[in-house]
Amino acid sequence: MQQTTRIRTATPDDFERIVELENLCFSKEHAYTRRQLHYLLIKANSTVLVETTGTLIRGFLIILYRRGTTVAGIETINVDPTHRKKGIGLQLLSVAEEHLRKKGIQKIRLEVSISNNVAIKLYEHAGFQKIMLLKKYYHYDHEDSRDAYRMVKELH
Ligand SMILES: CC(C)(COP(=O)(O)OP(=O)(O)OC[C@H]1O[C@@H](n2cnc3c(N)ncnc32)[C@H](O)[C@@H]1OP(=O)(O)O)[C@@H](O)C(=O)NCCC(=O)NCCS
Repeated sequence: MQQTTRIRTATPDDFERIVELENLCFSKEHAYTRRQLHYLLIKANSTVLVETTGTLIRGFLIILYRRGTTVAGIETINVDPTHRKKGIGLQLLSVAEEHLRKKGIQKIRLEVSISNNVAIKLYEHAGFQKIMLLKKYYHYDHEDSRDAYRMVKELH
């Protein structure tokens, strides 16, 4: 039987799977720690979206708000390596955009390592544009660079 796929807001019960996905997607030195993820999911001024098929969470996306502004940031987007290239990343971005429009957000901003070509492609596909090169943005090398692009999408 076909399982239902949907995107919903995360609950505290999703925490362990989110930690697991983060560690499947990034090496230890680049992954958010449990503590950071706990902050982002529970305490921060954020929205966390999860993509599910049946009861399995296959991907998640974290939005962070900046108080008093109409700009929101995408902190991260992760899709289970065994479920990539199925459109889950694009769907998460599209639902995030819809959610942000309803909240009156006018611009989405994010930073991405200049060596993360797959993520850059995904963001460009979703309508984001590179606006700035941030030298030594990260504390650690991502592949061979610490530099990042800032990318934005205006919501009209
Ligand atoms: C980046 C990531 C979220 C993409 O998720 P995904 O569900 O596989 O992406 P989608 O299937 O929605 O792909 C959408 C578009 O992104 C681009 N893309 C995705 N994977 C790609 C790949 N391996 N090579 C080139 N382009 C790719 C394509 O433009 C694709 O559209 P197309 O299939 O019509 O060509 C996923 O690869 C991931 O979790 N990576 C590790 C974590 C990460 O780096 N996150 C970004 C942090 S800033």
